[in-house]
Amino acid sequence: MDAIEVIRAKRDRGELTTEQIDWVIGAYTRGDVADEQMSALAMAILLNGMNRREIADWTQAMIRSGERMDWSRLDRPTADKHSTGGVGDKITLPLAPLVAACGAYVPQLSGRGLGHTGGTLDKMEAIPGWRASLSNDEMLGVLRAAGAVVCAAGSGLAPADKKLYALRDVTGTVESIPLIASSIMSKKIAEGTGSLVLDVKVGSGAFMKNVPDARELAETMVALGTDAGVRTVALLTAMDRPLGRAVGNALEVEESVEVLAGGGPADVVELTVRLAREMLAAAGVSASKDPETALKDGSAMDAWRRMIAAQGGDPDALLPRAAETMTVEAPASGVLTRLDAYAVGLAAWRLGAGRARKEDPVSAGAGVVLHAKPGDLVRAGQPLLTLHTDETWRFDRAVEALEDACAVGEASGEQLPLVIDRIT
Ligand code: URA
Repeated sequence: MDAIEVIRAKRDRGELTTEQIDWVIGAYTRGDVADEQMSALAMAILLNGMNRREIADWTQAMIRSGERMDWSRLDRPTADKHSTGGVGDKITLPLAPLVAACGAYVPQLSGRGLGHTGGTLDKMEAIPGWRASLSNDEMLGVLRAAGAVVCAAGSGLAPADKKLYALRDVTGTVESIPLIASSIMSKKIAEGTGSLVLDVKVGSGAFMKNVPDARELAETMVALGTDAGVRTVALLTAMDRPLGRAVGNALEVEESVEVLAGGGPADVVELTVRLAREMLAAAGVSASKDPETALKDGSAMDAWRRMIAAQGGDPDALLPRAAETMTVEAPASGVLTRLDAYAVGLAAWRLGAGRARKEDPVSAGAGVVLHAKPGDLVRAGQPLLTLHTDETWRFDRAVEALEDACAVGEASGEQLPLVIDRIT
């Protein structure tokens, strides 16, 4: 078999055979298929699609390219959540210890931010001393000590996806439902969780800009998980406006701690509790307490503190703050009808919260704080946003990103419900 034959088959809208898929993924992982050949194939897949059988074969081949983790030695069921990514999406931070406090183990392999969406590991690294890289034995130790662990995937997990994702990122081939579904699910299945709740974001701040595309992605991922023996359910949730009031690494940790202390913005609390209930149900845990109670009685906070300390972090340390702030004011009086998620994410990125290339550092303190959310009444000139950065030259670029971000009108505008649909 050779790469050109496989590329031509997909270029000409053919269906790839199981053998072709196994061969091309294996050969690419070994370095026998060149990056330029794989990019041509990824582009052919983006343009011509793959059917469910091809996507399942592609996912299985990526799983087989590396190790598979096994949590069967644990005495409680495992549950995991994956978000397709958004602006202000810090839900993993309160959710993982919350679900642990309610009786399931949460082995959560997370990623870093790229572009306008933040990454859980970048947020957690704002906590002084906290370590993202753990060996498999260390992961098991943290799970036993705290019930939840949030860390980076080791290099042995789905190495084909690691290589391919980096290539897609620089060849305009990220936005393909078959490639996104197989990329996410190969890692989640290889991670060895018994159950999985997918939070598929919809709107300007997400990969999927509209509900039909998000539904197709969710259905594809649920089918892949279920066929691999992982109890999988997906929620479609709103990402037309930012989630919560904080966007940026340390700022989002601060907001997550507020949620764990029984407070925090209503949308973050609602989604955290809803996802926790879904995870416990998918894991088959008859929870010893309801997630809402575990946020109020301090048990989720206790699990958070144990988890941070077990990974070298100091849960009492002061979080980094950006050196400079600037206020953006409401342009008129009335109802805030729109505050665009993508624009706010782009502003936070330009303030230093995100990275342009994988190897770039991020600023822990940079980001955006929202003083109003769509539906709120605002007065002309009142603070709408506070921008945080370490370098004042970044303000102009952030303000430029926010130029058309908000609208003020007479009545509430159309916005997506927080939870749009549930796919099983
Ligand atoms: N996240 C992933 O892990 N892979 C994708 O392709 C897109 C988002």
